[in-house]
Amino acid sequence: MTISTVVFDAYGTLFDVSAAARAVASEPGRDGFAAVWPEVSAHWRAKQLQYTWLRAVTGEHADFWTVTQDGLDWALEAVGQAGDAGLREALLGLYWKLAAYPEVPAMLAALKAAGADTAILSNGSPEMLAGAVDSAGIGGDLDAVLSVEAVGIFKPAPQVYDMVGDRFGVGRDAVLFVSSNGWDAASAASYGFRTLWVNRADEPVDRLPGRPDRIARDLTGVPGLVAAS
Ligand code: 2OP
Repeated sequence: MTISTVVFDAYGTLFDVSAAARAVASEPGRDGFAAVWPEVSAHWRAKQLQYTWLRAVTGEHADFWTVTQDGLDWALEAVGQAGDAGLREALLGLYWKLAAYPEVPAMLAALKAAGADTAILSNGSPEMLAGAVDSAGIGGDLDAVLSVEAVGIFKPAPQVYDMVGDRFGVGRDAVLFVSSNGWDAASAASYGFRTLWVNRADEPVDRLPGRPDRIARDLTGVPGLVAAS
């Protein structure tokens, strides 16, 4: 089946969250924080994702902006920086002014030139995603920006992946799903999408039932995968 639709995860896949955060950590007067930034960054992302999974299992949904703040508050307290309101505001502000990874604009333009439909499918709230898409300047090459808020549950609940077929009217095997999160790519593979895991951090493959069809270090090869499908 030819791939007609290419759907991207947002944070870490299209948008470089870590680069923006490193910028905050290197601001003047943040020397003490720069030393603990790697630990904060790891805790923040881990808790942000843990809270999405736990809330999905228990049915206690809150939007991604809420769990992003909750994850950061846990991480800052863990390193004894919970009292720095300015630091908290600067880090949270990152999510509204993210840059796209360098290969993203040309990759999306190539997909549109080839006639593919393109979309984001993300845990991000509609407001967060609009802010990130606008700040990265990639909205012109995206046919849709799909937020889990439309179904009220986080990835990898199948209702989230259902949104792609509902929006584009295509079968699962006509979709290439692309994520930098191994668990997201694995779940999408189990769901029935063609999948590419963008293993930007050179991590091991997650031990989950689904396995991504392909693994790459960046998004450069995505148009070629579609052309060869
Ligand atoms: C997303 O954008 C969590 O990065 C993941 O949905």
